[in-house]
Amino acid sequence: MKINQNYQNVSESYLFSTIAKKVAAYTQAHPDRKVIKLGIGDVTLPLAPAVIRALHDAVDEMGKKETFRGYGPEQGYAFLKDSLQAYYRTKGVSLDSDEIFVSDGAKSDLGNILDLFSEDNVVLVPDPVYPVYVDTNTMAGRRILFSDATKENCFLPMPDPSVKADIIYLCSPNNPTGAAYSRQQLKAWVDYAREREAVILYDAAYECFVSDSSLAESIFQIDGAKECAIEFCSFSKMAGFTGTRCGYTVVPKALKGGVLNKMWLRRQTTKFNGVPYIVQRGAAAVFTPEGQREIKENLAIYQANAKVIASTMDKLGVWYTGGKHSPYIWFRCPDFDSSWEFFDYLLENANVVGTPGAGFGKNGEGFFRLTAFNTPEATKEACARIEKLFS
Ligand code: MLT
Repeated sequence: MKINQNYQNVSESYLFSTIAKKVAAYTQAHPDRKVIKLGIGDVTLPLAPAVIRALHDAVDEMGKKETFRGYGPEQGYAFLKDSLQAYYRTKGVSLDSDEIFVSDGAKSDLGNILDLFSEDNVVLVPDPVYPVYVDTNTMAGRRILFSDATKENCFLPMPDPSVKADIIYLCSPNNPTGAAYSRQQLKAWVDYAREREAVILYDAAYECFVSDSSLAESIFQIDGAKECAIEFCSFSKMAGFTGTRCGYTVVPKALKGGVLNKMWLRRQTTKFNGVPYIVQRGAAAVFTPEGQREIKENLAIYQANAKVIASTMDKLGVWYTGGKHSPYIWFRCPDFDSSWEFFDYLLENANVVGTPGAGFGKNGEGFFRLTAFNTPEATKEACARIEKLFS
């Protein structure tokens, strides 16, 4: 037996596991302190009532002989794919049902999709970036190039024609920086990918936060994207499914003459048995009129939290990006060059947890990420503590 030596090249622990361990050690040592978590992008509001009703109904169906279901279609039930097709139509994007694959979330698919690509492809990843893109490719031993996202380019790197990449990761609105590409900027990436016959792996997990029509909610709103892109999305942030687990991936048939669509179907039918029927019923309820109204009410609460954090940065005169079309605020650490030192200082002195920018890549050093997913009360309290500490 030979182990996969590439695992020697990833850090011992996943970023958010490392943070969780640090916070657990701190709270154990200081049980009297009220720690507020604005670290991992995990939601706090309960599922929408329409979703809960659909989940209950589906549970009842599973308890009756006439309506019980066993294995479902690996790529998702038609009722959910129909709703997703209709959702994309509202964005002006027309998809065939067999271009949509329902899964247990964007993170798993972003890792699993790499099964389709040969190991000698060159991967282009923005830096800073959601660590999953780098870690999964490192585990597979692929060569990774980085496109620098910096304060100078507003954390939105553009294609460099001299860089020869085969697999390109884009995430907009971005995790961790909250920066969002305009449609024109995305068009430049689509043109670059088509010219190079590269594929764009487009992470749209935060599309529900886009509130400006000059920005894209789906890469398929950009001409030519169906010939070069795969899109990953999730109910996690949109409808609070981080613990319920449901997402979807769109693999267009126009991409590589349908080869990748067929390969993904083959991969999923072999290695995946589909998302539970009950969960898919809950996900479909998100697209009912009540479901839409209720999830939008929840998203408005997170958006208001983002404004509270952003206005704290304004008051402190701290440079930041994000918050407007994103649940993340990405800011320059006041008084610190090291983002891990800033993490410790903030935890110790304000009892607030965030995510150090360095955990997302070298260009993240000196920056810090806070999420808007906590409650309004906790967010206001955390901001008051931060303001006091740095005024
Ligand atoms: C994050 O905090 O970056 C996200 O919650 C991670 C994820 O969605 O997996």
